[in-house]
Amino acid sequence: MSHPYVICGIDIGNTAVKAVIARVEPGSSQPEVIGVGTIPSTSALRAGEVVDMKEATEATRAALQQASAMAGIPIRRAYLAVSGLHIGTQVSKGTIAVGRADGEITAGDIERVLGTAQVVSLPPNREIIHVIPREFIIDGTEHVRDPLGMKGVRLEADVLIVHGLSRHLKNIGKCANECGVEVAGFVFAPLAASMAVLDKHQKEFGVAHLDFGGGTASLTVWDQADMVHSAMMRVGSRHITNDLAILLKTSLDTAEQIKLQLGAVNERWDRRKKPELVDLSAYMDEPFTVQRRDLMGAIEARTRELLDMVHDELKKAGKDGLLPAGVVVSGGGSKLPGFAALVRDTLELPVRIAKPVGVEAFDAAMDPSFSVAIGLVAWGFTQEGGEGHRSTELTTVGGWIKEGVAWLKNFLP
Ligand SMILES: Nc1ncnc2c1ncn2[C@@H]1O[C@H](COP(=O)(O)OP(=O)(O)OP(=O)(O)O)[C@@H](O)[C@H]1O
Ligand SMILES: [Mg+2]
Repeated sequence: MSHPYVICGIDIGNTAVKAVIARVEPGSSQPEVIGVGTIPSTSALRAGEVVDMKEATEATRAALQQASAMAGIPIRRAYLAVSGLHIGTQVSKGTIAVGRADGEITAGDIERVLGTAQVVSLPPNREIIHVIPREFIIDGTEHVRDPLGMKGVRLEADVLIVHGLSRHLKNIGKCANECGVEVAGFVFAPLAASMAVLDKHQKEFGVAHLDFGGGTASLTVWDQADMVHSAMMRVGSRHITNDLAILLKTSLDTAEQIKLQLGAVNERWDRRKKPELVDLSAYMDEPFTVQRRDLMGAIEARTRELLDMVHDELKKAGKDGLLPAGVVVSGGGSKLPGFAALVRDTLELPVRIAKPVGVEAFDAAMDPSFSVAIGLVAWGFTQEGGEGHRSTELTTVGGWIKEGVAWLKNFLP
């Protein structure tokens, strides 16, 4: 393909919709972000599920318009992030006899074995989002990562199935469709974000990725290039805002402003340091002070609650203190001053704030809250760059090349 083309990712989050548009030059090894849009939307979703279609659609439309205006191109097709507490995972296995008489394993065999592995009984209201190969086994030889071209008689696949509520997938698909956008694919948000912020070596050595969003937090754990654990947690930065609203007996909007402008994870990271009493009169329209200890204490308590959950998940994954590449944090919540330091001290692991890898991005797109949307672009690139499927071609915007079934191949970069 000699034309440049674009890939778009839309992340309908609990507190904001983010859209990212990237351009891929022919032969380029990475997409380049050319447009971003972010629109606050605080009541469209609850715990990751759409509860107000109208608001979700309007925010999606506005975020797309912002990104399109910056990129200078309309968008007709996009990858959508799927997140929330309704996501479930299940391990499954499939087995086939290799098709060719000479025993050489073909792409068709791999597709067939993955097809058999995804025959699982899910409740009727759930749909498979991903079938992620964990390993292939050829005639009893385990841990084969890519069986293509190898010889064998019997091919087995050990897969992780990620599934979610059909209703939710339909709802976010409808949001996109109503904005004139076709769904190129649904991608589990933490998986997308991990593609944008973790490099190959970190995944190989062992690393965790924590996205501290507005309504939820997600964790993925990687070892020897595989995602070995994932968890969604019901704590987001919005919970800190709620706590402050209760503590200060003020509105959510005011509490959010106070969090963004004065918030820190504890007193050590409070930029104001002194005095002991914080004057909030400018936010409250009346003389109002609060003990600095109380303000920071509320923020720290909620943050620690999240980190305790993360600690438990790392223990469940058998990786507590055992991740040489440490933890990478992303999401708007990770911008709280002192958050990374608290993660490091609590989990006793090296910590890094997420920066996109494998995608060229300008400053605005480097914001940790864009990790999922950038990850969608990275995901789209592995689907389309590697396997010959194309999103919108820049020269033929509006004309589509039919999508194939490149779902799973080359999932791990
Ligand atoms: N400097 C900051 N300190 C603390 N919190 C912040 C800061 N900047 C942004 N946030 C919070 O980050 C949240 C938004 O982050 P993000 O965009 O990652 O969430 P989301 O994707 O909408 O939510 P979710 O991932 O739960 O669906 C908001 O709650 C916002 O208050
Ligand atoms: Mg998010």
